[in-house]
Amino acid sequence: MKKLHPVLPAARERALIDNDAYLAMYQQSVEDPEGFWTEQAGRLDWFKPFSRVKDVSWDADDLHVRWFDDGVLNACYNCVDRHLETRGDQTAILWEGDDPARDEAITYRQLHSRVSRMANVLKELGVVKGDRVTLYMPMIPEAAIAMLACARIGAAHSVVFGGFSPDALAGRIVDCESKLVITADEGLRGGRKVPLKANVDAAKSRPGVMDHLESVLVVRNTDAGVPMQDGVDHWLHEREADVADDCPCEPMGAEDPLFILYTSGSTGKPKGVLHTTGGYLLYAAYTHEIVFDYQDGDIYWCTADVGWITGHSYIVYGPLANGAITMMFEGVPNYPDYSRFWQVVDKHQVNICYTAPTAIRALMREGEGPVKATSRQSLRLLGSVGEPINPEAWEWYYNVVGEGRCPIVDTWWQTETGGIMISPLPGATDLKPGSATRPLPGIKPALLDADGNTLEGEAEGLLVITDSWPGQMRTVYGDHARFVKTYFSAFRNRYFTGDGCRRDKDGYYWITGRVDDVLNISGHRMGTAEVESALVAHKAVAEAAVVGYPHDIKGQGIYVYVTLNAGIEPTEELRAELRQWVRKEIGPIATPDLIQWAPGLPKTRSGKIMRRILRKIAENEYGNLGDTSTLADPDVVDDLIANRLNR
Ligand code: PRX
Repeated sequence: MKKLHPVLPAARERALIDNDAYLAMYQQSVEDPEGFWTEQAGRLDWFKPFSRVKDVSWDADDLHVRWFDDGVLNACYNCVDRHLETRGDQTAILWEGDDPARDEAITYRQLHSRVSRMANVLKELGVVKGDRVTLYMPMIPEAAIAMLACARIGAAHSVVFGGFSPDALAGRIVDCESKLVITADEGLRGGRKVPLKANVDAAKSRPGVMDHLESVLVVRNTDAGVPMQDGVDHWLHEREADVADDCPCEPMGAEDPLFILYTSGSTGKPKGVLHTTGGYLLYAAYTHEIVFDYQDGDIYWCTADVGWITGHSYIVYGPLANGAITMMFEGVPNYPDYSRFWQVVDKHQVNICYTAPTAIRALMREGEGPVKATSRQSLRLLGSVGEPINPEAWEWYYNVVGEGRCPIVDTWWQTETGGIMISPLPGATDLKPGSATRPLPGIKPALLDADGNTLEGEAEGLLVITDSWPGQMRTVYGDHARFVKTYFSAFRNRYFTGDGCRRDKDGYYWITGRVDDVLNISGHRMGTAEVESALVAHKAVAEAAVVGYPHDIKGQGIYVYVTLNAGIEPTEELRAELRQWVRKEIGPIATPDLIQWAPGLPKTRSGKIMRRILRKIAENEYGNLGDTSTLADPDVVDDLIANRLNR
């Protein structure tokens, strides 16, 4: 029996929503979804109001998702301009550097001026409404400013995580035909420099990139001397010197693209998840307010990188739409030491801290000392995102970090959902460690068996959503057929999440993890197919199969089976080289943890790799391999078991 943590009285008292209010809201959202979402849309300032709330079909033959589609608004206006009158001098972005001696507070008024200037520079460089701009940035205020500047002039941004390789960056520039890249000379993380501009230069030389790319705008960050290509590379500070600091907000249709964000799937290359202006922004603002019980003046910190959806929705768009004080952190949890997170909390008097289970587990391993060395009295609420949080880590977060005073919101959602879907509300929900608890008002989850039958009550099955919500992705950029196939072909009229899930007798949801070939490494999504195709691109490799296995800190680790080409010796040097190779091809987050030499891979007679068996061996659960009778050559399994690496 797992422990239940009832709603904390202090949380209930201050919260906007208690349990009765949650139940009433949920009921309303089910009975009258259009009325419910119309009311929520009142959170935003519209240049022209919408007349139609929803125009959605999840029918695979005519798939379209439109919300508020004749409404006109601008996301940057909603995140910046509309706050000037009431909170122009309030901090909007609180930035904490990798170096603890560096920080900066930017007010809404200053943000307005900096965003407008950058927007004017973008215009001067030829960016117009409807263009795509790629951002490859460190965690500095200019990352958020660049996103908002794009939104201001109606260009869709595509943020590529600064840890990705030049090849990964190049692929994403080409896929969405970006005209411009915004980057910095270098990034800084944990005291180490990240050569962002050099990576952009390398990306420029990849096939197809310069067919689209016209300019690179470079933020001076570490002041490293980087080469600048005449006519292509431009320093932001130079270009900004002579632009005006006002720039009108482009009126955007609610369904005009706001951004593209690439994420991994179970097959093929990463897909460009497209989010649009009205529905996405409304959903980010709505969920940010209710899940974090955000109230004026709260100091809110989401530790994610803006390269991920969490950074988009819960560092930039949700908080700023709500006029919040949002913190941006350039550094890492263990630099200069393992107290850093909590030192930052004390220094800035943070009230709400939203982080990932992998960070919590890494800190937990260092014991209570580094936590206890700090006060943390300002904390009121803790959050978790990205992967299932194991109950041990949950209890440590709750008892050691939060000293039993702070509810934990374990928020389940995806790049595709735009915002949080299943999560406790701090004043409403009794907590069960490891459960994301109940759906937010407006969200209708269901569990299905493999044949698509709906499971009622206590059950375990595949998690689907049965009705649209405004934050839903609209398409895969440039590949609508892939959108249909990935999410709407498994079950008729249902959005398939790719996650397995259990629902308990109280109606609480427990996410069990991906049921497809998507790995979750430290909360980062990685397709097994991506890692495999990187590996087979190496001259020594004939074939590769990649699976996940349980990893104490990362949640999942990357386990690789490699068949070498004839005549190639399996050596430790080659192992190291392959690890390096994958890092170079994709980025450090894709580094294989274990590489097993596999003379053969278990295949069916039709040549399909039986991943189920490879997964079991990687998990060290080889005693129960299930039915292996369809294998073409059962002997290869014995060899793989005998030489398994995770014992
Ligand atoms: O498997 C789920 C897991 O992360 C996947 C989505 O990954 P991504 O699009 O990168 O977005 C991560 C940030 C929202 C989901 O399909 N996941 C995310 N949050 C949770 C989770 N699994 C369990 N519990 C969570 N709170």
